[in-house]
Amino acid sequence: MRKSILMICLTAVTLLAVPSLYAVSPNQDMVTNESGEYILPELPYAYNALEPHIDEATMRLHHGKHHLAYVNGLNAALKALAQARETSNYDLVSYYSSQVSFHGSGHLMHAIFWKNMKPNGGGVPTGKLAAAIDKEFGSFDAFKAHYIAAATKVEGSGWGVLGYDPMGKKLLVMQVEKHQNLFVSGVVPLLVLDVWEHAYYLNYQNRRADYVKAFFNIINWEDVAQRFEAAQN
Ligand SMILES: [Fe+2]
Repeated sequence: MRKSILMICLTAVTLLAVPSLYAVSPNQDMVTNESGEYILPELPYAYNALEPHIDEATMRLHHGKHHLAYVNGLNAALKALAQARETSNYDLVSYYSSQVSFHGSGHLMHAIFWKNMKPNGGGVPTGKLAAAIDKEFGSFDAFKAHYIAAATKVEGSGWGVLGYDPMGKKLLVMQVEKHQNLFVSGVVPLLVLDVWEHAYYLNYQNRRADYVKAFFNIINWEDVAQRFEAAQN
């Protein structure tokens, strides 16, 4: 089935040969079907592939239930807004606009999150990304400490984010609440870590800090570097 691709957030790059497990490139995170509805992207690895750092049961629930709910919520909100246009009834436009922001951001962040990880990942970035991290944060270790602190200390549900600001040409570490609050407009997310309880509670219970540290064992730095490269073009 031919899928139309909606380019969100990142600029287009030519899709060359990608690993067979990749359904789409890092720059094509949000995929739609022929009707223009968003669909749940497949994981680029098996549900148990990230163990012991993230367990299979958590991954199944997280991807198959939670992420899917954001996809469905985004489609439902867009459908309601289309109906509002047809009927010229905009009584609920504020509600559905906020739903688009919440579910749309939830969908995008999860789509990036899955690809930011891989089995036997971790280590350190190389090349231009490594140089940019050193320039912006002083060293990789300083960046890592900052990122871990930011992600661990998110108040309530949210994300730790390394992003690229194309206007200032700078890397930023952000603390995002829910999926969209406290985001810096225009910044392209490169490395995102879900710290909602649904992302870790089955295995780590209240030990969010342990989960955040474990994330650094499964980061797919090649994916992050590809996003950084694309964000600069
Ligand atoms: Fe999540």
